[in-house]
Amino acid sequence: MASITRAVIAIAGATGHLGKHVTTAFLSSTFQDEFSEIILLSRNESCLFQPSSSQSGVKLTTRRYNENNLEEALQGIQILVNTIGPAGHYFKTKLADALPRTNIRVYFPSEFGIDHYGHDFAHPEWHEKKKKHLASAQRVVPHMKICRVFCSIILEDIGPWYGLDTQKGKYTSVGSFRTPVSFTSVGDVGRTVASLGSLPEEKIPDVVHVGGDSRSIAEIAKIMESAGAGRIEIDCLPYEEYKKETTAEYSSQPAPYIKFSMGDGGIAHTPAFLGDDNELVNPGQRLWRWKTVEDLAKENNGQPAKDVVWPSS
Ligand SMILES: NC(=O)c1ccc[n+]([C@@H]2O[C@H](COP(=O)([O-])OP(=O)(O)OC[C@H]3O[C@@H](n4cnc5c(N)ncnc54)[C@H](OP(=O)(O)O)[C@@H]3O)[C@@H](O)[C@H]2O)c1
Repeated sequence: MASITRAVIAIAGATGHLGKHVTTAFLSSTFQDEFSEIILLSRNESCLFQPSSSQSGVKLTTRRYNENNLEEALQGIQILVNTIGPAGHYFKTKLADALPRTNIRVYFPSEFGIDHYGHDFAHPEWHEKKKKHLASAQRVVPHMKICRVFCSIILEDIGPWYGLDTQKGKYTSVGSFRTPVSFTSVGDVGRTVASLGSLPEEKIPDVVHVGGDSRSIAEIAKIMESAGAGRIEIDCLPYEEYKKETTAEYSSQPAPYIKFSMGDGGIAHTPAFLGDDNELVNPGQRLWRWKTVEDLAKENNGQPAKDVVWPSS
């Protein structure tokens, strides 16, 4: 199969939290020349942000879509990045149904989290939604390249919901606080996808793990302390008990599941655990420098999510 030269790429969910960063990365001077057109897809065109004129070296267009015009809205697209949020699973199913009637050759489904494919438990969002979406896309377009990007935890989301309560000076690990956990800045997730989209089709893997930085809870505490957080104590909860209690309840909240996965290496995108594809997407950090936990700590004097009230009422 011939490689795609200067593909037409589209981003579904471009108005969203991650989608905006993916869009910015594709439009950046590092990647924009790799594509002939970047199409932003939204259910509400007026929400699409306007990039500055300095980013206009590539043809940028917007398309309004809905669940009834997907086939038409996806015409002429060769690479589709799906960054639709958790509320849009039904829409994603409709989108998967439309894929066979398009010319899309590379599809990035809306994964962008932790790799849930080896889990011995079923979280409703990952198991019932994301896995099913992949299965339906693979069924309807068996020859399409489908690349799942697992980017670990978004670095900027470090906060009390994951047991990292810097404000209270208390971190809680489930299992060992020495297990590495990977974090990737939301901007670096965008750059990862843009870099993958610019690779020849045959070099894009089916599964990609990246981790901008990998640190244990003990290391994160030290980094935040050095950046001005004050003393942080670490509490350790028993892994088996916490996991059993969490998985016994049907909850769509991912944070408790993420907390025990942090303890068992399930979010460690390092050679000793799940491995990483950092060198594939950003060889020798020549395309960008990965943002680290230390960089984040410096930005907020060791107190990420400082003003957040947790638990929220
Ligand atoms: N690794 C991590 O720590 C982490 C953290 C957060 C998110 N994620 C993952 O990143 C992906 C994107 O999440 P996000 O938080 O960026 O999403 P989001 O901001 O909640 O939503 C993104 C876009 O999806 C579209 N959308 C929302 N509801 C929809 C619906 N019912 N039907 C159709 N489209 C809908 C909207 O675009 P329009 O209104 O313009 O159509 C919205 O702007 C998800 O797969 C999520 O699991 C990972």
